[in-house]
Amino acid sequence: MTRNITLYIEKDYAALSQKAAMIFAQNVKFAPTAAYGFATGSTPEGMYEKTVQMHESGEIDFSKLTAFNLDEYYPISGDNPKSYKYFMATKLFDSIGLSPERRNIPDGESKDPKAECFAYEEKINACGGIELQVLGLGNNGHIGFNEPADIFTGATSYVQLSENTIQSNSRFFDKPGDVPRHAITMGIHSIMMAKRIMMLVSGEAKAGILRDALLGPITPLVPASALQLHRDVIVVADKAAATHL
Ligand code: GLP
Repeated sequence: MTRNITLYIEKDYAALSQKAAMIFAQNVKFAPTAAYGFATGSTPEGMYEKTVQMHESGEIDFSKLTAFNLDEYYPISGDNPKSYKYFMATKLFDSIGLSPERRNIPDGESKDPKAECFAYEEKINACGGIELQVLGLGNNGHIGFNEPADIFTGATSYVQLSENTIQSNSRFFDKPGDVPRHAITMGIHSIMMAKRIMMLVSGEAKAGILRDALLGPITPLVPASALQLHRDVIVVADKAAATHL
């Protein structure tokens, strides 16, 4: 594994979540007003729960950070419980006292998704960049909604979701036909511009793709393999996900 990647292997999902929340909280303690990047999906949920607990115990003040989410389905309304906007509000932001002006997430209702991509990228840059970007890992190696492809995506982009992603995300919807076919996602370049990246990976089903991402060739066919080129990456995995490392 390249030396820019720090790997923590935790015994189970609870320990992974605790570790990730601690790393995040320490960063916020050090840089409370910086911009932080957040991910959705089931993997970071535990980290968000622990973060809420830290807020409730008064250990750390999370209310001064600025949040940027990786991605959002398109089209989707922000009050749809399946939207990432709703997910972040209910799983984290409402519970850590983060005011709506400090929450940034691509607008799944925008009439012009391409203009929204441009505006979103500008907003991240105007904030001085992201201090710590949290990532999950898709079953097919995607990060954000950057799907396997012939080339790496650059800036925030309007993208088509792969069948694999639609299938795996259909568990959050009533039926696969309800999963939006498109999304707006920070691109690989936008993600790579973050000062630090922390990717969370849980479960045996991700063991193969985690190995490909960290130890395989750097290729847009495994978008997460781009992380091998970043200078400060933390991977927090549970034992099951680390089986093939
Ligand atoms: C979605 C999100 C990704 C996330 C992935 C993995 O596709 N766009 O950002 O990493 O799901 O989700 P899970 O953590 O549920 O496996």
